[in-house]
Amino acid sequence: MSFVHQKCRNVDVPYLGSQIYRTSVPDDLVKWNRDWADYAPPNYTDKKVHGQAWADPEINDHNQYTFDPKTLSPINPIGRTGLAGRGLLGRWGPNHAADPIVSRISDEGHLEFVAIQRRDNREWAIPGGMVDAGEHVTQTLQREFTEEAMNGNIDKDSLKELWSDGKELYRGYVDDPRNTDNAWMETVVFNFHDSNGLLNNVDLQAGDDATALRWIRVDSKEPLYASHAHFIDLLKSAHSK
Ligand code: BGC
Repeated sequence: MSFVHQKCRNVDVPYLGSQIYRTSVPDDLVKWNRDWADYAPPNYTDKKVHGQAWADPEINDHNQYTFDPKTLSPINPIGRTGLAGRGLLGRWGPNHAADPIVSRISDEGHLEFVAIQRRDNREWAIPGGMVDAGEHVTQTLQREFTEEAMNGNIDKDSLKELWSDGKELYRGYVDDPRNTDNAWMETVVFNFHDSNGLLNNVDLQAGDDATALRWIRVDSKEPLYASHAHFIDLLKSAHSK
């Protein structure tokens, strides 16, 4: 079977920050082309989303994606999630994030990457974040790393060489627990590999939404946030070629 999302079909706990339970969607009914005439998931958009500058208006009228002729909402490209509306996501359709993986070979010869501990759920993660309105994703990658892993110390020059040599590892849909039938996460993952020890002269320090920082070896079994373990697998394969 082709890829089906899992994290946005969890019916054991309510949708994040709410008391709303998703409709249970079995694996074989995820794809929209499978008939399910009675499918009527709860419709939920968190109050925090209403009226925000980073969010779409209540009524959605764009047409870049396949959309539901009944509700005029964009349709999750992977399939059903058991929840309609936007949940905690600001945008109808794709909500864009960017994940910078900064890596190096340690003195002991191990490939490792900069990880931060997230303030919201204490999980270890790549220091990624949402693309701001009007921002280019290359800016987001550097901004998020600077905010979360350098505590906002903007030192444009010392890492110039590192930022100029990024390699794209992934671009597209993410299996994220916030996804709904009408709003979902997409991300762009870039690897910035420090072959020249540039980071030895930089003060890495958790900041903003991050409470701690450390280098994690790619072969450690450390559980990571959202789909980040998958992105680290991509990093490993990119470096084993
Ligand atoms: C996070 C990214 C993550 C994305 C999708 C964003 O909120 O900051 O690191 O890849 O969600 O799960």
